[in-house]
Amino acid sequence: MYNYKTEAAQFLSKNADSLNALSVDQISDMIEIPPDKKMGDLALPCFKLSRILKKAPPAIADDLKNSLILDSEFSKIFKNVESISGYLNFFINESTYCETLKDILSSPDTYGSSNTGNGKTIVIDYSSPNIAKPFHIGHLRSTVIGQSIKNIFKFSGYSCIGVNHLGDWGTQFGKLIVAYKKWGSKEDIENRGIKALTDIYVKFHKEAESDPDLENEARQAFAKLERHDEEYFNLWQWFVDISIKEFKKTYQLIGADFESWLGESFYFDKTERVINELKSKNLLTLDDGAYIVKLDDYGMNPCLILKSDGSTIYATRDIAAAIYRKETYNFDKCIYVTSAGQSLHFAQFFKVIDLMGYEWAKDLVHVPFGTVSIAGAKLSTRDGNIVLLEDLFKDAISKTLEIINEKNPDLEDKENVAKAVGVGAVIFHDLSNNRIKDINFVWDDVLSFEGNTGPYVQYTYARCAGITDKADSKIDLKNLVLTNELECDLLRTLHEFPAKVGQARDELEPSIITRYLLDVCQSFNRFYHDCPVLKADDANIRNTRIALVSATASVLKNGLSLICLKTPKNI
Ligand code: ARG
Repeated sequence: MYNYKTEAAQFLSKNADSLNALSVDQISDMIEIPPDKKMGDLALPCFKLSRILKKAPPAIADDLKNSLILDSEFSKIFKNVESISGYLNFFINESTYCETLKDILSSPDTYGSSNTGNGKTIVIDYSSPNIAKPFHIGHLRSTVIGQSIKNIFKFSGYSCIGVNHLGDWGTQFGKLIVAYKKWGSKEDIENRGIKALTDIYVKFHKEAESDPDLENEARQAFAKLERHDEEYFNLWQWFVDISIKEFKKTYQLIGADFESWLGESFYFDKTERVINELKSKNLLTLDDGAYIVKLDDYGMNPCLILKSDGSTIYATRDIAAAIYRKETYNFDKCIYVTSAGQSLHFAQFFKVIDLMGYEWAKDLVHVPFGTVSIAGAKLSTRDGNIVLLEDLFKDAISKTLEIINEKNPDLEDKENVAKAVGVGAVIFHDLSNNRIKDINFVWDDVLSFEGNTGPYVQYTYARCAGITDKADSKIDLKNLVLTNELECDLLRTLHEFPAKVGQARDELEPSIITRYLLDVCQSFNRFYHDCPVLKADDANIRNTRIALVSATASVLKNGLSLICLKTPKNI
């Protein structure tokens, strides 16, 4: 398949002596896709060259244009090149778009994939909720952003290890054990699961306000747990099992899957090695009974390693986990997906690993995302301002079912369709904007099926699939003719898919795919509005248009699956 940017860059490099100092890759990196198609299919912004060439951008664009020899090699791919306001614009020859169509249809399921990552391993730590705490919309982001990033890396040939680094260790388990022993009921917890555990945890905090001794009891209980006291350990294990069972229901709806479920507790006996190593490397400082690593030289507060009561913390376990992952998987990159609120934590412990002398500290990447608020207010378990994922999905699915019952009551398999569309709406909404943007969660927006939403994309897919199913003849790839500008537009959009996957991967930004899919739908619907497909008079035109519809279906399907959305054929 043509990579038009590389083709244009090669062409420039061959013809324009003034660019001799640059490699083909460097030129290709400068080339952009103009937002307005009137400005060509590709553009080289010449202001990027004005420093090296010491000339004004319009003069550079003119010179470059004049130096190009528009031979048969050139016209095989491009039909024209123009200098417009400091940009050198390339116009692609329509006939080459048929190549894209052939490419898509000859391997529809893998179109957009690549082998960029062959032989490379990515560890991706995502979702990672805390045991016995509500699994709420704040966790949705880490789960869907993480799962999408993992899908995108896999599609690019990487071997991926998804890790659910469960928050299953820490002083809160001392509190939970004390609370359970005082006020808990086995039956209630078995029936109501995490909700019952949260209730006793909240009660603990309320009671502790008037009875400060409770905090001490909790500390002792956690110390006992760290010594693996059998009774306490079994209780802890029970809390973990109950929580995971509930999390898994939501994971199944989203299609999130993990290669590893090693949570914080797994690193409990691996922190000693970290502490010894930090000591022997002279990195630990005693500070008011606690051990810290000073980071003033790097403009950060110290990283706390060991509390004065001798217990380890989140950061200590994260350092142990990173070392374990490097030793176990020898990753090329280890990615952590959490809210931006934890950025300092990651910057601190990445620095500690760097100071320990591990050169792979540079391969640790934090992928932050914006916080979620509900109708403008901060999420808070204690004030009850949370929306549980389980309830959110339940509502989304039942609302979808209502719409189906109203509009299409005889639809086959409607429960499953409602699941795919309802859950899809929620996920798509979450992935619509750049991940770093804060989200204000408004029910009506999330469950709106109008406009730029998941259901709109899924519906467009179903429409394409319906048309191709109805076409009785087999697509003939040898007889493709493009006769309408809207067909070319659609193909130009479909052609961008592999590059968009690459961009989403490099920027760790699933919203690039989400927004791209909306572009595809828009291009498709414009085409479909103006160009009869099954009713086209000419056999070759009909054949080509069916091919276009089928290619659109494949791109939508592959793209949607990258962002965790299913593609029912009938909606
Ligand atoms: N359990 C943490 C939380 O809910 C997220 C863990 C992220 N991963 C990590 N290795 N620190 O905030």
